[in-house]
Amino acid sequence: MRRVIFNQKGGVGKSTITCNLAAISAVEGKKTLVLDLDIQSNTTQYLLGEKISDSYQTITRFFRNSLSLGLFGAQDSGLDDIIHETPFPNLFIIPAHAEMDPLQSKLESRYKIFKLREALDRLEDFDEIYMDTPPILNFYSQSALIAAEKCLIPFDCDLFSRESLYTLMQTLSEVKADHNENLEIEGIIVNQYQAQANLPRQLVEELMSEGHPVLNSRISPSVKVRESHSHSKPLVHYAPSHKLTEEFRALHSELQE
Ligand SMILES: Nc1ncnc2c1ncn2[C@@H]1O[C@H](COP(=O)(O)OP(=O)(O)OP(=O)(O)O)[C@@H](O)[C@H]1O
Ligand SMILES: [Mg+2]
Repeated sequence: MRRVIFNQKGGVGKSTITCNLAAISAVEGKKTLVLDLDIQSNTTQYLLGEKISDSYQTITRFFRNSLSLGLFGAQDSGLDDIIHETPFPNLFIIPAHAEMDPLQSKLESRYKIFKLREALDRLEDFDEIYMDTPPILNFYSQSALIAAEKCLIPFDCDLFSRESLYTLMQTLSEVKADHNENLEIEGIIVNQYQAQANLPRQLVEELMSEGHPVLNSRISPSVKVRESHSHSKPLVHYAPSHKLTEEFRALHSELQE
């Protein structure tokens, strides 16, 4: 299964959710790949403990190669050579890299938007693939939306997030209609949910009454998230029996149903 985690709004929990769901999938014995498509490299840092300085070992290389295809007899190298092991069994990552950014306009003008999907189609070995995206609809997030079968939308119970959800749904319908008819919105993940507070409850109820596909599992706010980032250990490894880890496990099993 290939999932993209996307919301063009920043800071809603895309990277946190990507890494923690992927880590649980790996713990459950599935060979799992995380693809970091955000130049910020937060997911890379979370799972590897550092950003990667040499672009040769990153997604930048893959896209750069796709631009030089045909030149000097260059071959499409695919994704195999840029997959890194993480410290966690069954969990692998293709890291992001700062030099992704300057490639974008060339990739766009030469219509390389399907390259990622084609490369993932050729990659056979993984049970689960999770793609983290930047907080913007750019070449990289579009490539991921085109390559994915399912889309998860983190929502952080904020009024601005609620407003931006309409644009997001519009964007997803457009990608589906124009480029990827198989794309399914798997659900909205309610993150930083405070059950005692009025506003989050009200916002979530409104979304549901409008027919948005809100998932049942909720993720609470917890300082453990920041701690686990700073230790570069997803929660299932950093705090295996913490309430938040249980919430992520519940979310992961809801997605398997
Ligand atoms: N459930 C949570 N409880 C507490 N803090 C959280 C939770 N989820 C996310 N955060 C914090 O919110 C911030 C944003 O999270 P994250 O980086 O995962 O969001 P993002 O959508 O990937 O951001 P960006 O759009 O910049 O890529 C981080 O500092 C993270 O630690
Ligand atoms: Mg992020």
